[in-house]
Amino acid sequence: MRFDSYMEWCLYDADIGFFASTRTDVRSSKSGDFLTSPEVSSEFGRALGRFVAAEHSRVGNEAEFTVIDVGAGSGSLLRSLGDVWAGQAVGIELSPAARETLAVDGLGGMASFAAFGPAVTGVVFANELLDNLPMAVVEKTDGGWVEHAVTTSGGALTMVRLEARPEVAAWADRYASDVPVGSLVEVQLEAAAWTADVLGRLDRGALVIIDYGGTSEELSGRRSRGGTIRTYRSHHLGPDPLVAPGETDITADVEFSALLDVCHEAGAEVELVRQDDFLRQWGVEDVISSLRHQELEAARAGDTMRQLKLKSERLDTETLLHPRGLGDFRVLVARK
Ligand SMILES: C[S@@+](CC[C@H](N)C(=O)[O-])C[C@H]1O[C@@H](n2cnc3c(N)ncnc32)[C@H](O)[C@@H]1O
Repeated sequence: MRFDSYMEWCLYDADIGFFASTRTDVRSSKSGDFLTSPEVSSEFGRALGRFVAAEHSRVGNEAEFTVIDVGAGSGSLLRSLGDVWAGQAVGIELSPAARETLAVDGLGGMASFAAFGPAVTGVVFANELLDNLPMAVVEKTDGGWVEHAVTTSGGALTMVRLEARPEVAAWADRYASDVPVGSLVEVQLEAAAWTADVLGRLDRGALVIIDYGGTSEELSGRRSRGGTIRTYRSHHLGPDPLVAPGETDITADVEFSALLDVCHEAGAEVELVRQDDFLRQWGVEDVISSLRHQELEAARAGDTMRQLKLKSERLDTETLLHPRGLGDFRVLVARK
């Protein structure tokens, strides 16, 4: 089984898949396996709500304007966008547990973006979705690219090398030709196909992809140090992806140069920035200043409970901007 098929099985198989099987809870939550920006602080969604308002005005305040979150998880992003978008927000989820949570709050809960048909006007968000789309893994050898695949040996899973498929080798040549022999590269054809599909359905508005990763240049060093595939389980780095299939989140850094090319080819106007810069642009630093000011007032008034609550809110909001944590995520905005 080539690594992309293995990743798909581990994450999305209806029986054992980490995200898809009915025996799982919502993974992106405090009781789950990892915390994402909208789970850390509702100020993330509020900032995106201000972005949505600006997009709505840019496309002429159309009445038919939808906010779609693909891979919406618990729905925390949609819930914190602001009341003005209630009734226009829809979550798309593969996970049955997440779909149930979304449906309770009237946030839809469809399984696929294809349900939207060909001409969407609005904003489509994908926060920490593309890092989970199945990826092939190739290794640079003296003789060119070889592809990693998974097989069984003595009752255990083990990695073998196969000749790389032509489309996989072509992608690696395009985005990682300069890496030294021995480097590992995650080939993200599914992320490219997903992005092209969404932009094909988006008539007017924006696609916003937020994730960890970087451009080819930024990822080059990580590729020469063994690539970026890793697993998470219960809020910690997990074991090798071949251990405990279906029980860990398999993920890798998103290759944004490839996505920028897809957006250009789809005729979109595109920008790529860091999450900390993006959130500053949409007012998060002002929110932090205001919380700090209110904290001081509460301290002066001797209201310790309120002071502590405001402090906790401020620290959560600051986490979104941490330069080596969430602030180092990338935000790709493609406008049509
Ligand atoms: C890392 S979680 C992020 C959840 C949420 N966006 C957040 O920021 O809290 C990824 C989510 O994407 C969902 N997912 C993965 N592939 C998907 C797909 N092709 N379509 C819809 N949802 C998908 C998973 O079930 C999971 O809930």
